[in-house]
Amino acid sequence: MKVIVTGGAGFIGSNFLYHLRKKHPAWRLICLDKLTYAGNLANLKGLAQDENFRFVQADICDREAVCRLFQEEQPDVVVNFAAESHVDRSIEDPAVFLHTNVLGTQVLLDTCLHFGKIRYHQISTDEVYGDLPLDRPDLFFTEATPLHTSSPYSASKAAADLLVLAYHRTYGLPVTISRCSNNYGPYHFPEKLIPLMIVNCLQNKPLPVYGKGENVRDWLYVEDHCEAADLIIQKGRIGEVYNIGGHNEMKNIDIVKLICRKLGRPESLITFVADRKGHDLRYAIDPAKIHRELGWLPKTNFADGIEKTIQWYLDNKNWWETVISGEYRKYYEKIYGERW
Ligand code: NAD
Ligand code: DAU
Repeated sequence: MKVIVTGGAGFIGSNFLYHLRKKHPAWRLICLDKLTYAGNLANLKGLAQDENFRFVQADICDREAVCRLFQEEQPDVVVNFAAESHVDRSIEDPAVFLHTNVLGTQVLLDTCLHFGKIRYHQISTDEVYGDLPLDRPDLFFTEATPLHTSSPYSASKAAADLLVLAYHRTYGLPVTISRCSNNYGPYHFPEKLIPLMIVNCLQNKPLPVYGKGENVRDWLYVEDHCEAADLIIQKGRIGEVYNIGGHNEMKNIDIVKLICRKLGRPESLITFVADRKGHDLRYAIDPAKIHRELGWLPKTNFADGIEKTIQWYLDNKNWWETVISGEYRKYYEKIYGERW
């Protein structure tokens, strides 16, 4: 089996490549990634000597480059992780989100069609469903929940999902979509809540919590997401959407306090700052379908997952120190400068 993984130099994509290599030693793995600020070749160091792995630096919006790679590799499956993924950046500058997340997806779909209806899997997000109220713990996102997006990021992901389903219905392209809740784990870029709080704690820097920290996210260890996506590409029903999540809802403030405790830092580092515009209140996935149809269940509980994640940042100081030098400093100033 030959698999092209786009966005494989980012957080989840790199974890997915390691997962595939461990589970399917004979598969040929090809990573196509533009190496934006979020893409990092250091994330793929463990595959550098692997003869059955190839890395290609290219933009998914670049039709010629994508076509060339498909011509050379004749893949059996394409899994699209490539995206602009950070909500705060989408609020500052939506255009690149539409370009990569929507038009880039279209280029991949066209190319899959052109090369004989190649199997395509779209990595989407629970954010396409919008948010749930904080006072209705009985409500969850199912695959039938209407799309109702809040940010330019989630709107671009929803647009891409609709395009993927349209290519299935109109042209018969064999597609699946997965919509996962918030991931955490190794190689998570420190612009997102958990790695940002860990990295700031390790530098004794203030911990910026948006609003009152009451917003709820449904956290899943990244390896569990990878296993679910692997199952879907092998056994998922064509044309279907699968929600992925492990019923692990937590308030942001509780996560930040937990990280402080684990790293022995005082809660006085916590600083409540201006809220995110249009901030989604609560995400909560109902994963019954993927459990029922594919037998998937998460394997890592939050207590173990956060322990492993914190340890990874302690063991990989060099990784995050490199990541937060350069462009990241400007980003931090832009997003947080006006918030304090
Ligand atoms: P990330 O920002 O860490 O990585 C994105 C990767 O895509 C980077 O390697 C980047 O270089 C690459 N990329 C960006 N634009 C590209 C382009 N035009 N062409 C080729 N490569 C490009 O993101 P992530 O958190 O790993 O998320 C991966 C996917 O999973 C995204 O589609 C995201 O919407 C989805 N997702 C993320 C989460 C989460 O909690 N992080 C949860 C559910 C779904
Ligand atoms: O639910 C899946 C989504 O999860 C993915 O589709 C996105 O790609 C991914 O970035 C993530 O989106 P969120 O907006 O939920 O994640 P983020 O880590 O940015 O924020 C998590 C919560 O923490 C959110 O309520 C905002 C809050 N927050 C975030 C940051 C970066 C803070 O309070 N302070 C911060 O500095």
